Formats: sequence, structure tokens, C-alpha cells
Amino acid sequence: MTSPTGEKTAAERRASRRGSERRPSIDPWRLVPMDKSEHIGGEDIFNIVFVGAGNIMFGSPEGPWNHSFRLEHKLGPRMKVVALIDPAVDRAKETLKKKCNSFVVSAYKDTRVCKTLDEFRETMTAKETPKAFIVGSPPMFRGTLKSGRDVEAQILKHFPGVALFIEKPVATGPVEEIKEGYEIAKMISDSNTVCSVGYMLRYLKATQQMKKIIEDNNLTVMATIARYANAYDSILKPDWWDKAKSAGPVIEQGTHFCDLSRYFGGDVDMSTVMAHSLEWHENAGRLSKIPIDENTIPPENRIPRVTSATWKYESGAVGSFTHLTALQGYNYSCELEVYADGYCLRLVDPYQSPILYVRKPGDDHEAVHRFADDDPFFSEVSHWIDVIEDIEEDPDSATILSSYEDAVKSYELTWAIRLASERSAKAKAAASAGAAMKEVGAA
Ligand SMILES: NC(=O)c1ccc[n+]([C@@H]2O[C@H](COP(=O)([O-])OP(=O)(O)OC[C@H]3O[C@@H](n4cnc5c(N)ncnc54)[C@H](O)[C@@H]3O)[C@@H](O)[C@H]2O)c1
Repeated sequence: MTSPTGEKTAAERRASRRGSERRPSIDPWRLVPMDKSEHIGGEDIFNIVFVGAGNIMFGSPEGPWNHSFRLEHKLGPRMKVVALIDPAVDRAKETLKKKCNSFVVSAYKDTRVCKTLDEFRETMTAKETPKAFIVGSPPMFRGTLKSGRDVEAQILKHFPGVALFIEKPVATGPVEEIKEGYEIAKMISDSNTVCSVGYMLRYLKATQQMKKIIEDNNLTVMATIARYANAYDSILKPDWWDKAKSAGPVIEQGTHFCDLSRYFGGDVDMSTVMAHSLEWHENAGRLSKIPIDENTIPPENRIPRVTSATWKYESGAVGSFTHLTALQGYNYSCELEVYADGYCLRLVDPYQSPILYVRKPGDDHEAVHRFADDDPFFSEVSHWIDVIEDIEEDPDSATILSSYEDAVKSYELTWAIRLASERSAKAKAAASAGAAMKEVGAA
């Protein structure tokens, strides 16, 4: 309701802002690392439900992610985790025990562990009514309208108006289910629900500096060239190596760079996606340090070592992406180049220490920009909370950079790449078999 003074309420402000043109970027100076920011103001309790008690929520040695840690800083003493939903109850309890033994005990001392969303809903007291859900369960259990894999739809139905944060990718089910993702996106936008998806690389200062250069100079992107090379011997989860379980490395992992490419190139004409792969059984695809026993995975489910794709954006620009399972060690080697008339913006090493190389018209040399102390994981949750709280009238103060619909589009692109590479591999196998038959016939 509009207030008696004629001023808009927070919900109205949010709705009208979403209806108007969506701001696609954040001024880089607004991306402040955690140690230089204060927790959000206000007195009232901020009830939040965590779905999933795994690595993304509570951290792991594999990377810097840890949503709980950053939310504790952002929400400060207002934070109350009313429930931790995870079928692995022991893991959830163990995690809570550690939190309760630390100085953040006030956020977790009354947290209830529930096996399912239904269990929480059926036992929830009025005091526990959540203001937000953060969903970090595996993508195979969400992103659809099918019972048991429809947590978003269930939250929208039973907790209308409650904000959502969903981890990437939005799903990893069969390709036919992508349309259900778009239906969820429509439910989210029709209900004006605040929703952010965890494509945190969009919140990098370097990424936003690239956006700023493009906006300030009114540039039109001509091409995006992305490379994502993981360090495969440190990928220890057996499911990751099994296409039937993780949907393959482009969908599960390359998704970050496909999304970042789309962030600069715009919507992709899916009918143009072409791709090739280097498969596990080809000579060049033999890897010496796979950390799991790949023999336990059916041959048809083993992942490709290289996938290389090209496509046209709706704008006419061209995109390309190569995913590699080839390097060893710990650090990944990832780069994104964005070209426009006279410009090359080259983002290097966004995961460890992002560097942006900028080549401008009239200069053959690249200017080098480094971004110390940047924390895109903090920026993404910080902006999400600021949008929920709608703390300032200033429309530039908080922005969600990855909507659910946008994230479904990135998911669709990764599936299109996988399918195109599988088509090429099949065609090559058929051609080789045909050539072999001919040879036998000729002999
Ligand atoms: N943005 C990033 O850089 C980043 C990093 C890590 C993980 N992730 C994403 O986060 C998600 C989770 O990954 P993770 O590494 O934390 O996995 P994980 O396996 O460590 O944890 C997942 C947890 O979810 C629980 N779970 C399973 N089914 C559930 C259900 N139906 N409801 C609630 N919980 C359920 C599991 O028991 C487990 O405890 C994935 O989508 C992954 O891609 C993103």
C-alpha cells in the first residue's frame, strides 16, 4: 500500500524499479570488500533459511566460497538462521555445532535442522517466519516443477514475497526440463519476488570496470572469447566426472564463463551454437592424474577433456568458449576477452587475482588494472540483502546482476554447447566407422 503521505512503500519501490529498465551494472567503487564494510543497520531480526549444508554454504578447502560467513558479516547481530534444511542431517548438525562454538552463536543457537522444506513448513512457528531463503542444494534437486526437485516453486507457493538466492547452475536435469526453468522464472517475475542467482563473477570489480568502459564509451561488443581450464587433479568429487550425475563440465563448471560471456554479448541465438570435443577415449584425451577411479563410470558417461564452441549473439556479435580438463595443481587458468571497435578488454585469472588488460584506440599497449582485496562472493550477497532491505532511495545503491531468467538462459547455452559437441563427436565416429568399412571392403 502507498503510505498516507503518498510515498511509495519498499515493495512498491522495488516493483516499479523492476518494471523500469534494469540497470545492468554497478559502479566498481560501490563494490566494497567485507573488512571495509559494516553490517546492515536496523534493529529487527532477519530470519533466513539455509537450504543445503554443504561447501557453498559453509566453505571448503577447494575455494573461497562460504555464504554463511559473508551473511554473518552483512547481517551482523540481526541474523537468525531459523532452519538448515538438508537430508544429510548429521552433516547439518555437525556444521551447526561448530557455529555454536564460535562468536556467531547468536545466529545459530535456535537453528532447527529439517530434512525437507515440507518438514520446516509444517513445524514453523510464527516467530520463525523467514525473510529470505538461500538455496545451495545440488542443482539436480532443483530448477524444475517436478515433485522433490521443485524447491523454488514450493517456496514461492508457501512463502509468497520471501526473497530467494539460488546457486548456479539453476538445474542439471535433462535438457527437456529447461522450459520448466523458464516457467519458474516467470513465477518469480510475476510475483515480484527478489531473486538473485550465484553467478558471482558478474560482481567482480574487474567485470564492472569492463562494463563501465563499455558504457562510458558507448561501445558495441563485437566478440567474446572465453577460456576456462581447470586443475583436474584437485577435483575430487566422483559425481563431477560423471555426465549422468553432474551433466558434464560445461554445464556444471563452464557455466560461469558462459554466463560472463552472455553478460557482455547479450542473448545467444541458440540455433547457431556449434562445438567440438576431445573425448576421454581419444589418444589426446588421456589424462595421467585423474583423482578418482574413472573405470567405475560407464564409458558413455565419462566427461570430455576439451569442449570448444562458437555461436552468434542476437546482436550479431560472435562468442567462443573453450573448456579444458587438462591442467594439474590447484589454480584454474581462465580468461575472457571482449572486443569492440578499437578496444580489447582482457580479464585474466578472475578466481585468484583478477587482472584487467585494456587496449584502447590509438594505443598498441595494454593498460594493466589490478584489483586487490576484491570479494565478489561478498558483493553478491551484500547487494542481494540491500535489495531485500531496500535501504536507500538511491536507485544505484543496490543491484542484483543475475536474475533467475538470465541464469536459465546461461543454463540453456551450456546445454546447447554440450549437445552440439555430442553431435560432432557422433558424426566423427560415424565417419570413421564408414571409412574403416570402406578400407575393409577395398582389401
Ligand atoms: N559459485 C561458486 O563458485 C560455487 C562454488 C561451490 C558450489 N557452488 C554451487 O553450489 C551448489 C552446491 O554445491 P556444494 O559444493 O555446496 O555441494 P555439497 O555436495 O558440498 O553440498 C550440498 C548439500 O546439499 C544437501 N542436499 C542434497 N539434496 C538436498 C535437498 N533436496 N535439499 C536440501 N539439501 C540437499 C547435501 O546433503 C549436501 O549437504 C551447486 O549448485 C554448486 O555448483 C557454487
